[in-house]
Amino acid sequence: MSKQFQFKLVLLGESAVGKSSLVLRFVKDQFDDYRESTIGAAFLTQTVTLEDQTTVKDTAGQERYKSLAPMYYRNANCAVVVYDITQATSLDKAKTWIRELQRQADPSIVIALCGNKLDLSARRQVTEEEASKYADEQGLLWSETSAKTGEGVNAIFNAIAKKLPLT
Ligand code: GTP
Ligand code: MG
Repeated sequence: MSKQFQFKLVLLGESAVGKSSLVLRFVKDQFDDYRESTIGAAFLTQTVTLEDQTTVKDTAGQERYKSLAPMYYRNANCAVVVYDITQATSLDKAKTWIRELQRQADPSIVIALCGNKLDLSARRQVTEEEASKYADEQGLLWSETSAKTGEGVNAIFNAIAKKLPLT
């Protein structure tokens, strides 16, 4: 009998950075220009099973839901912390989430920092250098994505999968 692995992945980050859009792109290969903000307890997570292996939990980024996040990252194996490359403040918020994960989540959690909206690089406020340097210092995976075009989206989820303990 082959051994089954079950992983939990949680997405965190400021509202409107594109967490739900990344999940939609990865799971259904779709994009929605008018994606509504994730709100309300009943809709707080989208639980999707990927190849019977990984459960993806999207979270609501609006400040009023912040206190609910520990429920979702507490027993997560991996976290994707998302910022928007066109909003410098969203990187500050991402760093706050990373500090919280480093303190409160399982010590073996695999964390990826993800700069989304790469298709809007003409309006870039966060350089690749700044974000990758921070990620290196913190020992995080890092990459940039566009949920809109799909660029980099599979790569970040695959990079995480490679770092998970398959033994
Ligand atoms: P909350 O649910 O409020 O926490 O937000 P979220 O992080 O889930 O963001 P969401 O996926 O709802 O996306 C917010 C807006 O940004 C939507 O209008 C999306 O269409 C848009 N968006 C998301 N990803 C991208 C991207 O890669 N490029 C562009 N141009 N727009 C994007
Ligand atoms: Mg959302």
